[in-house]
Amino acid sequence: MTAAAGVVLATRELPEPFETLKTDFDVRVLGFAPSEKELAALVPGVDALICLVDDPVTADVIHAADRLKIVASYAVGVNQIDRTAAAARNIWVTHTPNVLTDATADLTVGLLLALSRRIVEGDRMVRTGKFAGWAPDLLLGRDLKGKVFGIVGPGRIGRAVARRAKAFGMSVIATGRSPRIEGDPDDPPRVSFDELLRRSDVVSLHVPLTYETWRLFKSETFAKMKPGSFLINTSRGPVIDEVALVQALETGPIAGAALDVYENEPAITPALLDDDRVVLTPHAGSATVETRREMARMVVEDVRRVLTGEKPLRPAPPEKPAR
Ligand code: GLV
Repeated sequence: MTAAAGVVLATRELPEPFETLKTDFDVRVLGFAPSEKELAALVPGVDALICLVDDPVTADVIHAADRLKIVASYAVGVNQIDRTAAAARNIWVTHTPNVLTDATADLTVGLLLALSRRIVEGDRMVRTGKFAGWAPDLLLGRDLKGKVFGIVGPGRIGRAVARRAKAFGMSVIATGRSPRIEGDPDDPPRVSFDELLRRSDVVSLHVPLTYETWRLFKSETFAKMKPGSFLINTSRGPVIDEVALVQALETGPIAGAALDVYENEPAITPALLDDDRVVLTPHAGSATVETRREMARMVVEDVRRVLTGEKPLRPAPPEKPAR
């Protein structure tokens, strides 16, 4: 293959397998988070666009492209891409499912333990010299065994989290569109959204960001949650109205929250930063060396396939129309 078989624009450098694209294609790397305007100015002449979770591949960007064949998301989420606009132009949208399921489920469990055993608070206490010795009432947390773990979105990641929560002796329930997998003992029983909110000691979010899940957690939702419960979000920030979350932490009913994603990422609602009952991580669900390398391999594979006339292996599901 010659070096000019296609132009690939990647908004950022990716792990190792990404290099292999450079031998066969004209690969351009931006190296910064582009605005919608910047991306629209850059896509003419580009055959493949590789984007990250928050690169705005809007309809304007898609319309500005003149020979784009694939938008490859270096993520499982594709809410940053206007898939309707892409479909109308016969542009493939691909993503990296499955490979990051375990890494994201592991981080969710890390957040669960951090919340229930106040690990981050404890770390801060020790570092700031406030640990004055063992005490009967020092930083008491909550047991997990026997508690109810509620999963909103029992898809691949939700079910992987369910398996882990069961290992802690929690009973797991779920709500969401994913049909139950018959014969899978780890697939939690389904309940209604309201029942899940009412019964769960911990609610964990594993839904994609869609018109239906945008601000699914707002004041009215928080009002239905069990007093003293915890909320964990490793899905997408805008699923939670952060102002309503701050309110629910201040006046009840919830006792703590662990967030890996934010409504206006990377900006954080200031009140969350000041609350010791809140644990914050930097959108790190898939952030392991092995997972990120495999994600890069998948992106490279699908870009290569599409630019050589084949179908991609991992097309993203079509966008649901707005109501
Ligand atoms: C990360 O958030 C992803 O969607 O892969």
